[in-house]
Amino acid sequence: MKIRAIKGIKDILPEHMTKWNVVEQSAHRLARCFGFSEIRIPTFEQTQLFARSIGESTDVVEKEMYTFQDRDGTSLTLRPEGTAGVVRAYLEHNLATQFSMRKLYYIGPMFRHERPQAGRFRQFHQFGVEVFGTEDPYMDVEVISLLWQYFTDLQLPELTLYINSIGTPDDRQQYISQLQTYVKPQLQQFCENCQRRFHTNPLRILDCKVPRCNTLTEKAPTLLETLSDTSRKHFTHVQNGLKLLEIPYTIHHRLVRGLDYYSQTTFEITSSHLGAQNTIGAGGRYDGLVKNLGGPPTPAVGFAVGLERVNILVPSAVIGDTPPLVVIAGFGEKGRPKGLKLLTRLRQTGICTDADFRANSLKAHLRSADKLGALATIIIGDEEAQKEVVIIRNMQDKKQVEVPIALVPDQLKIWIHQNGNIF
Ligand code: HAM
Repeated sequence: MKIRAIKGIKDILPEHMTKWNVVEQSAHRLARCFGFSEIRIPTFEQTQLFARSIGESTDVVEKEMYTFQDRDGTSLTLRPEGTAGVVRAYLEHNLATQFSMRKLYYIGPMFRHERPQAGRFRQFHQFGVEVFGTEDPYMDVEVISLLWQYFTDLQLPELTLYINSIGTPDDRQQYISQLQTYVKPQLQQFCENCQRRFHTNPLRILDCKVPRCNTLTEKAPTLLETLSDTSRKHFTHVQNGLKLLEIPYTIHHRLVRGLDYYSQTTFEITSSHLGAQNTIGAGGRYDGLVKNLGGPPTPAVGFAVGLERVNILVPSAVIGDTPPLVVIAGFGEKGRPKGLKLLTRLRQTGICTDADFRANSLKAHLRSADKLGALATIIIGDEEAQKEVVIIRNMQDKKQVEVPIALVPDQLKIWIHQNGNIF
């Protein structure tokens, strides 16, 4: 029996890689433009790192982590997200002492044991950014504007930015008791999950996907109404910054996020072009996490983008044309080695060139060149090799022209520059 890939874990096939590369290169370029440095963190860490950061009673930690025992019995977990690992690395390597503020970004695979569906995978990729060392609301704005520009540069359709504030832990404590008082008399009418969340993680009742639970909390007090003055001011500054940058947003008072480390601003961007899994990027402030993991009090803010979802949405126009390809058809005792030399020379001058070494007739070479979508085939048999020339065949109109070997790189460059117009 053939061994197949694991459910919810996908290969990214060659025909999809051009898009993936555009999506990843845009992330690198934009993050660097915004002053972020790349960091690569391990794909697995000690389980307690995630349990302590994301929160014991979250769905991710309770149900979705890939956890296994190392040979010495240590519990390890494949990273379900990047923030916890970046904070661990930030502390472990004293990144705070070199600069008082650090702006880091990462791209890589994450792992969550969720029910696979369109846009939801068990191994998926995130582009994420994390800023440490400032509680200035303008940094929230900067991070959101990076996310917004990333999506608009890639021309993702029908975007909505939702923002909320979940305040400080004190604000939240106060709010949670108000919410519990409101929910308690009707608790039996809520879904089983929410009945459990009522005790373990009451805020999550607000973003339950079951419509009945949503209706039941429609008139519940909102977090925004309970915010302290400081939190309210912070949120107002964030909104003013977004207005200044003309980034449209909608306040969504149920946006509490599924990870426990957040405080103050939370945000997400959705696209109505996706199905149920329509959040492409999300994040927020997490001013308490660095301290929680044993560091000094350090405010922080960041986001992560689901790159599979971005890939689904990127229009093909953004990808651009693939670079023109030239194929060398070298045959005969003298033609083959001359062909190999020319192949290497063209590649060294930056012209994408390929050759099918299995082909032993001109017909076979041309068939190969057609399959590869080549613009031109450079034919070099023994006769041409003897005369130090090649025949360049335009694969579109089949016209051929003889060119001295020494002139081929320059001639091809001119030709490619003029969109294939050599003859
Ligand atoms: P998150 O909301 O858990 O946040 O994930 C961010 C994004 O990753 C989601 O909006 C979604 O696009 C993508 N994503 C999550 N799970 C899956 C999945 N199973 N399949 C495909 N895509 C998925 C975080 O991970 C935080 N670390 C974000 C953050 C960074 N907050 C502060 N800094």
